[in-house]
Amino acid sequence: MTTWITICETCKTGEIGPEGAPGAQLASQIEKAAQGRVKTRRHNCLMGCKTACNVTIQAAGKIGYTLGKFAPSPEDAAAIVDYAEMHQASDTGQVPFRQWPQGVKGHFITRHPALPDQDAS
Ligand code: FES
Repeated sequence: MTTWITICETCKTGEIGPEGAPGAQLASQIEKAAQGRVKTRRHNCLMGCKTACNVTIQAAGKIGYTLGKFAPSPEDAAAIVDYAEMHQASDTGQVPFRQWPQGVKGHFITRHPALPDQDAS
């Protein structure tokens, strides 16, 4: 299943630049790094403003995560995309800690267990 990175483009921790809010700047960096690797989309407030800049990493049938406290930098974007690619390669969405890119460590906010199959009782 394809992994999606949803980027909050309205996160405001940091300075407003030519590309807009720091969240929009991070979105641009992630979109560049993710080309041909994982899917991305932008969203307004993910309701985690205190931990800006925030992203979610999700795929159907897999555990998902919210990560935050990122800066709009190429390094943070690369770490997020590297991790999302590992999430995509995993059958469950879980990635062993020892494989995590250094840049995502300390950034996990919440995890979201995969929803059960609708046909299961
Ligand atoms: S503005 Fe980004 S989580 Fe609220």
